[in-house]
Amino acid sequence: MDRRDFIKGAAAAAVTVGTSDLASAAEHISSLDEDETKPLLASAPMLQNFAETSVGVAFAVNGLANGYVLVSERPDLDDARKFVCGGCRMADIDDRVIQVRITGLKPATKYWYRIGADRIHYGGGYDMKVIGNEEDPRTYTFTTAGKDLKGSFCVINDTHVRWNTIRAELDKIEALAPSCVIWNGDASNTEEELENLVSIYLDHPLDRKDYAACTPYLFCPGNHDFRGRANRHLERVWMYRQPEERSPRDWDLGRNFAVRLGDIALVGLDTAEDKLDTNPIFAGLFKSEEYRRAQTAWLKDALQQKEIASAPFLVAFCHIPLFDSDPTHNPGDVYPADYDPQYTEDYAYWQRTCGRMWGPLLHDAGCQVVITAHMHHYRYDAPEKGRCWGQVVGGGPHMKPEDYPTVIEGTVKGNKLHITVHNILTGKVQDAFEFKRR
Ligand SMILES: [Fe+2]
Ligand SMILES: [Fe+2]
Repeated sequence: MDRRDFIKGAAAAAVTVGTSDLASAAEHISSLDEDETKPLLASAPMLQNFAETSVGVAFAVNGLANGYVLVSERPDLDDARKFVCGGCRMADIDDRVIQVRITGLKPATKYWYRIGADRIHYGGGYDMKVIGNEEDPRTYTFTTAGKDLKGSFCVINDTHVRWNTIRAELDKIEALAPSCVIWNGDASNTEEELENLVSIYLDHPLDRKDYAACTPYLFCPGNHDFRGRANRHLERVWMYRQPEERSPRDWDLGRNFAVRLGDIALVGLDTAEDKLDTNPIFAGLFKSEEYRRAQTAWLKDALQQKEIASAPFLVAFCHIPLFDSDPTHNPGDVYPADYDPQYTEDYAYWQRTCGRMWGPLLHDAGCQVVITAHMHHYRYDAPEKGRCWGQVVGGGPHMKPEDYPTVIEGTVKGNKLHITVHNILTGKVQDAFEFKRR
């Protein structure tokens, strides 16, 4: 039995036995915390959901802890501000994942930071003590988004917990040194346990433990990132933006982003499941339709934000393609169960519903390119009449010629947006495109 199962068992036992036994159950719990011999800090930090004035820092721990981040514009952290995990109501404690949202930052500004955690003894509601402290000796850096941050972005997608693929992609990202990375969905498969999510994002088995410690990540979930009970609460590992960073209407849209990276506006959308809410295998437990409509309202407003509307280049990201010219490809709107003999598969190859809602908005805004994923096969759909945006579909999870992985790089050179598709199997540039200012 692992430690967490034991604790769960002890807590359950405390409920089923008499009050006099509560104390002994609590003793079991606290002795486990105090006897913990592993280092408290279990991973390097991961920068999540970076924005102009805020960024998230997440890291794994090996025991009950209250984590924090020290942040400064000075490398020596002499005047560092301390941000503690949790909201303003109370500081949080967790025995596996610490999430700290750093707010009140300046746009396009470099910061230095360190992470630490207090080990907490929890003997009950009236018996909490700090029994230790650990700080990561390393000082890390991040730079906030903003129109003055001239840099590049990289996109990875459909990694599906294929470590060899992820290793090769991270090596490429290290060489390209982008200002941020968009993980464009299907990072997972079907994840039932929180520990699986910790392993995918924070405490993974690769050598490059600090892959996201100085390079911020943005996330557009894929259909697989909704599957399994752990993924239904992905925010326990991949944090949302703070409530005050969103309007009440957009309460559930914690990961959609609209940020400036120099001359480029980056807009992130979530196409959700690739099967209909009415498909009987889902038992009515998904609300993708409602979720997509909510994002349509958000997108309309996001595109009109001054910083987004004024950017010379607009790039949108979402997992499932918004366009497909192949008539045999299921468009994801075949009620009630996705099946129609005219299509080769009974799940969405592309998202016609999202394409109809978001495509015209992106067209009217002069979006140059939408970067998508999901098909496990790289392709490019050039703009055409009535659709000014081109669509790049990122590659697959296997180091094989038919579904080779890609790292898609975007940067501005001169007056043009350059999109370069790196083939991770061959190590060569697969494709390259230039787009004019809108
Ligand atoms: Fe996938
Ligand atoms: Fe997918």
